[in-house]
Amino acid sequence: MVLITGAGGFLGTHLTGALVKRKEPVRCLARKPADRAKLERFGAETVLGDVLDRKSLERAMAGVWAVCHLVHGIEGDDRRKGITLEMIDQLGAANVLDACRANGTRRVLYVSILGASPAARSRLLASRWRTEELIRGSGLDFTILRTGFVIGRGSRGFEGHLSLVQKCPVVPLPGNGKVLHQPIALSDLLSYLIGCLDDPRTCGKTFDAGGPDRLSYVALVGQVAQALGRRRLTVNLPWGVVRPLLSLGSALGLRRAGVLHEMIASMQVDMVCGDMEIGALMPGPSKGFRESLAEYLAADPSRGEPHENREDYRHRVLPSRGAHS
Ligand SMILES: NC(=O)c1ccc[n+]([C@@H]2O[C@H](COP(=O)([O-])OP(=O)(O)OC[C@H]3O[C@@H](n4cnc5c(N)ncnc54)[C@H](OP(=O)(O)O)[C@@H]3O)[C@@H](O)[C@H]2O)c1
Repeated sequence: MVLITGAGGFLGTHLTGALVKRKEPVRCLARKPADRAKLERFGAETVLGDVLDRKSLERAMAGVWAVCHLVHGIEGDDRRKGITLEMIDQLGAANVLDACRANGTRRVLYVSILGASPAARSRLLASRWRTEELIRGSGLDFTILRTGFVIGRGSRGFEGHLSLVQKCPVVPLPGNGKVLHQPIALSDLLSYLIGCLDDPRTCGKTFDAGGPDRLSYVALVGQVAQALGRRRLTVNLPWGVVRPLLSLGSALGLRRAGVLHEMIASMQVDMVCGDMEIGALMPGPSKGFRESLAEYLAADPSRGEPHENREDYRHRVLPSRGAHS
């Protein structure tokens, strides 16, 4: 049995579907009854629980040989409730690791973020580094995959930027727009995750997992606008201006301003792979940014401009493949 935490989220839901499809027994830890119902429709077992509730983790862990820890704390960051993203990341991971040890579960997979570092100025990236360190020091058979934008249905970060380009004739670029990204297609990230689960050579390793293309944020916005068939201008919003405004909003109790602050702060550093060491152990990513984006949009034509059919759309977007900056 494989336990997935954060199973009701974007990656958790897709990983549940992929593991069930290959007949792997899966148990999902979810917080909301609606997520539970969604995951049970895949044929997975579910347990209602929270990584900050140790008892629920003990219940979820029975008979489990591997845990995929996919909890994302940023949306839960709420000082008024006394819950911070650091607690969800670090205390949550510590609880998962304790429950693993108590149950004799040895295998742990964790998805972290490219850019996580001890020197990070963003709370999100600094917290991810400390969470990684907890996992690396756990004595368990861990694999950590660090990734950036994931292109797929339900990916909050990617869809947020897509909808910005869709709705705003002038797209604001936090900072100078030159920060680099290395987006990955959901299908490629799932292949990596399942590949790591299957391959004991990945134990004790932290891998960077990105797609084949590196592009600046301004280039990414340009490609999205082109794929949507929209003309877009961009305007630089220096971080020195954005930060005090969001900090003020956060201090005034606007929770969304606080979440946005942390998300934009984490986008001030390059989110690219330092190495592709994982490529020595399993096949590399199969889809570039343009192709992943075209597939994403073709699956939901309402996202782009009207067009006759999905195949037309794919052909219109894909010919210029390879011209990334
Ligand atoms: N999507 C991306 O582009 C991307 C990029 C880089 C890294 N990652 C990493 O991949 C992992 C999964 O990301 P995602 O995109 O799937 O995130 P997501 O869609 O936001 O899902 C996160 C899940 O965590 C759950 N969660 C939050 N607090 C919890 C708690 N205290 N106990 C139990 N569950 C809790 C959420 O449940 P509720 O809905 O009930 O809050 C949700 O199901 C994260 O570590 C994220 O940083 C994702």
